[in-house]
Amino acid sequence: MATIKIHGMIDPHTHLRDLDWSHKATFASETKAAIAGGYWAVFDMPNTSPSTIDAEKLDTKLAKINENAYCDWGLYFGASQADNTDQYKAIVQKVCGLKIYNNSTTGDLLIDNQEDRDTHYHEWSDERLIAVHAEDETVGDILELVRKYNRKTHFLHISTQLEIELLKQAKEEGLPVTVGVCPHHLFLTEDDLSTIGAYGHMKPELKTKADQQALWNAIESGIVDIIESDHAPHTIEEKESANPPYGVPGLETTLPLMLQAVKDGRLTLERATDMVSTNIQNIWNIDVPAETYTVVDTEASYTIERQNLHTKCGWSPFEGMTVSGKIIEVWIRGHQVYDGEQILSKRGFGNNLFGTTI
Ligand code: NCD
Ligand code: ZN
Ligand code: ZN
Repeated sequence: MATIKIHGMIDPHTHLRDLDWSHKATFASETKAAIAGGYWAVFDMPNTSPSTIDAEKLDTKLAKINENAYCDWGLYFGASQADNTDQYKAIVQKVCGLKIYNNSTTGDLLIDNQEDRDTHYHEWSDERLIAVHAEDETVGDILELVRKYNRKTHFLHISTQLEIELLKQAKEEGLPVTVGVCPHHLFLTEDDLSTIGAYGHMKPELKTKADQQALWNAIESGIVDIIESDHAPHTIEEKESANPPYGVPGLETTLPLMLQAVKDGRLTLERATDMVSTNIQNIWNIDVPAETYTVVDTEASYTIERQNLHTKCGWSPFEGMTVSGKIIEVWIRGHQVYDGEQILSKRGFGNNLFGTTI
């Protein structure tokens, strides 16, 4: 058995649901899924029901996740269409960042007017970064604001050649930007939709083979900083409905898929592990506590099957794919929280990585 140790794995882009959307997933179920996927910590997005857009709703969510999380975590605050910038001062230290939705997706947070985006950029603080959902030309609109305000901005789920080109130029220009890509855009394309149907339905949508190749090239050239799952569970019933919602789960498949890519010679082991740990820690300025690591058997090969997943939604767009790399131990702050089969931490064990809880 060949094992590797990865220190402080973080997924900075997850939708853990809960609150009014507990039927999709809960803070308890999805933080267990995170541990089974090898993660120390996960950052949760604000497009919940209710949306995380004022101090009171943030405190309600903080209290609920604090009671239920099995691993460490962080929460994003959401920029709201009805100007909520007066809340920023009170909440900035409790969150991992501000999330701005610039194109429509699951939930009702959307800022599609450049003037409103400008207001949020102006009013936010340098204490935390801004993470953006921006697709296609919208990436260029956000880059204008980054140039104007020089605020650290993370571009989530980048999926096209055009977006990569814009961000490459932004990096060459010296703008404070970072780039995340998701396994579904690396391992699936629009050609897979004929077999997986709504289970391959997400925002940004699956793209062409040329776009997919541009992402792999950008991993090789260093334009991509991190791998994020965009774990976005919806129930099987919802996915099978006439109007399936956008989003796919990914917490338990991200590391194994990336390690399979290493085995296939698509990237080095160091690059793969940096993109799920060190690079993320550096972007969010996080120190990993002692004895916080994941042990992976890199030789164990298996097939992704829904019955082996912990996520409450109980399916994966990657079902049937063979991956290499089995997570056999996870340790957080000196406590073993996973033994390869069972979650060993207790409900509420997880800490907020950003400030005090309430
Ligand atoms: C996400 C969700 O379901 O919350 N859906 C998705 O398709 N990625 C929202 C998002 O990340 O845009
Ligand atoms: Zn998004
Ligand atoms: Zn998302």
